[in-house]
Amino acid sequence: MQVKCAVCEKDFTPHLSFQTQKEGDNILYFCSQICLLQYKTSKKVKCSVCGNEFFLSKVFQREEVGFNTYFYCSLACRDRQSGAQETRTRVRKIAVMNQKGGTGKTTTAVNLASGIAEKGIKTLLVDMDPQGSVGVSLGVRSDKTIADFLMNRIALTDCTIPVRKDLDVITSNEKLSMMEFEFVRDDPNAFRMREKFSNITDYKYIVVDCPPSMSYLGRAVLNFCNEIIIPVSCDYLSFMGTQNIIKSINHINEFLKRDIVVTGILPTFFDIRNRISHLILQDLQKNFQDKCLSPVRINTRLREAPIHRMSIFEYAPDSHGAEDYNLLVEKVLHYQ
Ligand SMILES: Nc1ncnc2c1ncn2[C@@H]1O[C@H](COP(=O)(O)OP(=O)(O)O)[C@@H](O)[C@H]1O
Ligand SMILES: [Mg+2]
Ligand SMILES: [Zn+2]
Ligand SMILES: [Zn+2]
Repeated sequence: MQVKCAVCEKDFTPHLSFQTQKEGDNILYFCSQICLLQYKTSKKVKCSVCGNEFFLSKVFQREEVGFNTYFYCSLACRDRQSGAQETRTRVRKIAVMNQKGGTGKTTTAVNLASGIAEKGIKTLLVDMDPQGSVGVSLGVRSDKTIADFLMNRIALTDCTIPVRKDLDVITSNEKLSMMEFEFVRDDPNAFRMREKFSNITDYKYIVVDCPPSMSYLGRAVLNFCNEIIIPVSCDYLSFMGTQNIIKSINHINEFLKRDIVVTGILPTFFDIRNRISHLILQDLQKNFQDKCLSPVRINTRLREAPIHRMSIFEYAPDSHGAEDYNLLVEKVLHYQ
């Protein structure tokens, strides 16, 4: 039996219990856990072109230009709108986030941003983790950090450091965790991140590395970004893959003050010889369908690259790590 997903409108055959939900007298179908969460936690938006109401489930459905946000129910509506304004800049702001530590967030943020930049696309990598691993990984140090910028002490151009062709970085340090205390904690917009970055036109992509907690900083990032990639480690001894990730997304949705599109769940630390890894991957694929990206294998080169202050593409371009992260880069660039 083919049914239509209530959120993304994809046709599919339900075979998992969560995919069929009773709502009063109606039965609703959801192709993936993400569509189900999207339905429960977010509201419909209105297409800026045809007025149709729909759930945000795809990246192309939202476009931010300066302070304005446009919504498109379909590719046809988007093309009708942007055909007229071909020259305006689209900025994709992608958070790499999971409240667990050690799931490959920094590795993913650094290599995703580096990989996009290597294709000649202007990219900004922002470190929002007070541990400051991004700068360390790429061999940049600066005492002008994201905290100074968010505290209005310096201009954006003073803290963006060109590190490679088409790649700029804003570093972070422990000052960022200190400023967390100075701010109103229950207002995720207290940093005014979105406003502060809104006149940026130089970059097509902004990739944000997040701290391993759903702290104030994490919420500020969610308030700023419009997409999220969630790296999930496949190496847990317990079979907890899906439960953990649903908990993470639930957590994120709880704090969500605006609609975010989940670009993908990225299985990391995939060990091809380990049965648990395969079980977790299957579980993720079953529950997240096409939102589950292809896995990043465990690869020693990925661990070594930051020690040499390089991206995986510079350090070991022929490694499995480079192959897997290149797939991610391609997927993100062609994601709709
Ligand atoms: N696929 C991988 N294979 C091997 N080591 C990895 C892989 N991904 C990340 N690492 C290493 O694991 C550690 C934790 O990764 P990291 O990206 O810092 O996680 P997080 O930012 O989520 O805490 C780092 O030492 C990193 O180099
Ligand atoms: Mg990290
Ligand atoms: Zn769906
Ligand atoms: Zn429309």
